Amino acid sequence: MKEIIDVLISKEELHRRITELGKEVNEEYKDKEVIMIAVLKGAVMFLTDFAKEFTGDVLMDFLAVSSYHGGTHSSGNVRVLKDLEYDLEGKHVLVVEDIVDTGRSLETVLRLINSRKPADVKVCTLLDKPSQRIIENLTVDYVGFTIENLFVVGYGLDYEEKYRNLDYVGVMRFED
Ligand code: PRP
Repeated sequence: MKEIIDVLISKEELHRRITELGKEVNEEYKDKEVIMIAVLKGAVMFLTDFAKEFTGDVLMDFLAVSSYHGGTHSSGNVRVLKDLEYDLEGKHVLVVEDIVDTGRSLETVLRLINSRKPADVKVCTLLDKPSQRIIENLTVDYVGFTIENLFVVGYGLDYEEKYRNLDYVGVMRFED
C-alpha cells in the first residue's frame, strides 16, 4: 500500500493563521506571565511557531499522558508519562494542542492541570474536529482551523510516528 498525502493546509496558510491566532491570544496574556503547556508529541511544532507571536513573558513546559484510562497518579486518575517541570499553583496556563478529536486526551490533561490549582487555564488547538467529539462540555478557547473528519498528518501529526516533520497539514490516503 502506497501512502499518499494531499495538502490540506499549506505552509503559507499555517503561517498566516498562526500569526493571526498568536496576536489574538497574545492580547489575553500581554500583561501576565503565561505557562504554555504542549502535550507531547504532536503539539511541539505548533507551540514553537505560536509562541513566537507573544510579546509578554512566556514559559514553556511539556506533558505526556497515557491515552488509556485506569492508570494511577497521586493527583487523580491520570497516568503521567512525562510530568511538568513547573509548579502551576496560581499561574496562568495555556494548553497548546495540535488537534482535539474525541476530546479524551484534552479531558485527561485538563484534569491533571486543574489538580495543580492554576489561576486559570485556557486551551488553544491548531486543529479542531468537532464532529468526532465524545467528551462534551469541553471548552476550547482558541481554534486555528476547524476541519472535517479527515485523517490528517504533518506539522506535528503522525501516521505510525511518521510525517510529523512536514511543514504543512496533509490528508492521508492509501493506494495499491
Ligand atoms: C493526538 C493529539 C491529541 C490527541 C487528540 O495525540 O496530539 O493529543 O491525539 O485526540 P483525542 O481528542 O481523540 O484524544 P496522540 O495520543 O496520538 O499522541 P502524539 O501527540 O504523540 O501523536
